[in-house]
Amino acid sequence: MFNNFVYQNPVRILFGKGQIAQLDRQIPKDAKILLTYGGGSIFKNGVYEQVKEALSGRNVIEFGGIEANPTYETLMKAVELAKKENIDFLLAVGGGSVLDGTKFIAAAIPYEGDDAWQLVTGKARIREATPIGAVLTLPATGSEMNFFAVISRKETHEKKGMGHPLLYPVFSVLDPETTYSLPKQQIANGIADAFTHVMEQYMTYPVNAEIQDRMAESIIQTLIAVAPKTLENPTDYEARANFMWAATVALNGFIGVGVPQDWATHDIGHELTASHGIDHARTLAVVLPHLLKLKKKDKRGKLIQYAKRVWNLSGTDDELVEGAIQKTIDFYESLDIPTKASAYGVGQETIDKIVSRFKEREIVLGERADITPEVVGEILEMSI
Ligand code: NZQ
Ligand code: ZN
Repeated sequence: MFNNFVYQNPVRILFGKGQIAQLDRQIPKDAKILLTYGGGSIFKNGVYEQVKEALSGRNVIEFGGIEANPTYETLMKAVELAKKENIDFLLAVGGGSVLDGTKFIAAAIPYEGDDAWQLVTGKARIREATPIGAVLTLPATGSEMNFFAVISRKETHEKKGMGHPLLYPVFSVLDPETTYSLPKQQIANGIADAFTHVMEQYMTYPVNAEIQDRMAESIIQTLIAVAPKTLENPTDYEARANFMWAATVALNGFIGVGVPQDWATHDIGHELTASHGIDHARTLAVVLPHLLKLKKKDKRGKLIQYAKRVWNLSGTDDELVEGAIQKTIDFYESLDIPTKASAYGVGQETIDKIVSRFKEREIVLGERADITPEVVGEILEMSI
């Protein structure tokens, strides 16, 4: 059944060439700003200069070094700095990791408890957050227009998602030209991540939600069409702009309203990043195809719809199901992204650890809450 829903997305998007120049108007005049960034890509591609120029004369301090898969340990240093400096606006400049990390910082600044990790686990409630703005330089996660963040903890090898409406950015600047400097591998990752975000919300069972289904299909078709162009020619503005916007709408909540959602691939993938350091998007490609194979009966209706509408396949229903899964594998592989966990040295030992972690946490996954830890084990065993 098409479920009831409430939808509100407050993020102001400033999309296109030169939009960083608008920053001054987006941030309150008297704000004390903390500019957060990652490992330094913003210094090499001119983004830092553009941001500084847009904010010249403003009260800005900086915190760099937020790593890919941002860690609690690093982020707490930013929280300390922000508290000391009485920061009242956060400006995240970078990819999903910088944005996610900044969302955690935003929640942790006003938090008065003594263990801020509880904001990630959900044991502590987020009641307040410092406002955030973002300049996105890597299309992939959708973090620029959603309220989620995924935070890692080095000490315990954990990687967990958190979310709260107070963590929506006030605005996000999306200038496709800032992404020209991305290495091919990061573009491939971004395409695979956005593709999988759509699949998590679409590849479940039909509930006659035509708008969500057709939008999901159009995002996937757009990604399929622009992938070779934007990989081949990084400065093709039209291709990059279409990719960037596709990645945003893939996870800004719109296609997920009123429909069942899966997210098992992401939850299993986070464990692979936590244990083997595999890039987020690459973990998805080694899980989803095997999950689809294992759950092909439950997902049959949608697999058939996807085969016909997205891949223009024809044949018997059984052929369509098999064809849909094969096309999914071929798509990841066309991005030079392996679909086997064994490609990263994942073996039975890791699988056993992941299964026992899920057992400890009593986690069941999937749109029907029937992917038990044992089923997670089966999926991963198919992948090695
Ligand atoms: O750190 P710097 O030097 O900036 O370099 C980054 C990093 O090494 C580099 N990069 C970013 N923009 C660049 C650039 N290099 C050259 N030119 C540019 N324009 O790319 C590398 C990867 O960046 P990262 O931010 O880690 O990648 P991504 O955007 O894919 O983010 C991945 C993180 O987001 C989480 C993932 O789990 C992972 O931790 N996710 C967040 C979600 C959300 N908030 O809704 C949902 C996703 O499913 C995902 O889980
Ligand atoms: Zn993702």
